[in-house]
Amino acid sequence: MKRDFLAITDFTSKEIKEVLTIAKVMKQMHRWGDDPKPLAGKHSALMFRKPSLRTRASFETGIRQLGADTLFFSEAEIGMGKRESVHDTAKVMSRYFDLVVIRTYSHDEILEFGKHSEVPVINALTDLLHPCQIMGDFFTIIEQKNRMDHLTIAYVGDGGNNIANSWVNLSSRLSIDLRIGTTANRTPDEKILKNAKDSGLSQITITQDPIEAVKDADVIYTDVWASMGEKDKIAEREELLRPFQVNDKLLSYAQNNVSVMHCLPAERGREITDEVMDGPHSVVFEQAENRLHIQKAIIVFLFGEKF
Ligand code: CP
Ligand code: NVA
Repeated sequence: MKRDFLAITDFTSKEIKEVLTIAKVMKQMHRWGDDPKPLAGKHSALMFRKPSLRTRASFETGIRQLGADTLFFSEAEIGMGKRESVHDTAKVMSRYFDLVVIRTYSHDEILEFGKHSEVPVINALTDLLHPCQIMGDFFTIIEQKNRMDHLTIAYVGDGGNNIANSWVNLSSRLSIDLRIGTTANRTPDEKILKNAKDSGLSQITITQDPIEAVKDADVIYTDVWASMGEKDKIAEREELLRPFQVNDKLLSYAQNNVSVMHCLPAERGREITDEVMDGPHSVVFEQAENRLHIQKAIIVFLFGEKF
């Protein structure tokens, strides 16, 4: 039966660890100039309703490195849900392609697409979740810290977005000390939070105190204060979230070797200062690179390919 990757919780803890291991192998083989091509002869499609640099570039490049080809469809070309139903679009795409990668607004839309698609579907970001990003980010953290246990990860800023929600999802599969520093009205999705707390695997703290969030943290992570589709909210968010800016002062409360992460694109001077983005703790470009390796691993895993 085909499998989708629409949320981190689509994978078990064991499967997540397996994907992380495949990504390590993929990265090493890429370094050696020896990319395995288990998807030779396959065809994939990217359907993106929102802009993208990293996600589009890393999927297109990665899919080609795996031996498959790829076609890109923008919002104007798809008209999914407007020109024709999500159901019909999913059925049609399944007749041409072996894999579909979707970036859209509504998470329900991708769930609906996955339900009717006969081929694997990967979530390349919805308003609710950005699972490939956090899988790649956790891979980066393991590289940086050389371990995956006893990690304190502090996410500060907009706690109500797809990145924060995806961190909470990860905490229901891998044991971490997850601290989310945000304002009262920008906390993660309640259902996602409840599910993670019920799993009992991780320590999850939601706090309105940025210093409490980052105290002795191994990782400080931030993201834009207004995501794609809600940029008109930036003035009000800026007012609320200013205390959560990642700057040198905030870093001084974390571990000396703290890694600073941002999924990018960043709005420098808002959620993160230039000094921190360009400083010695920043691993933002390692994160960007690792999207390539982790997504190749996710695809290989979904196809159950050996290489
Ligand atoms: N981090 C990320 O998904 O970047 P893009 O929006 O440029 O794809
Ligand atoms: N939260 C951001 C992530 C971008 C990769 C957004 O959705 O715009």
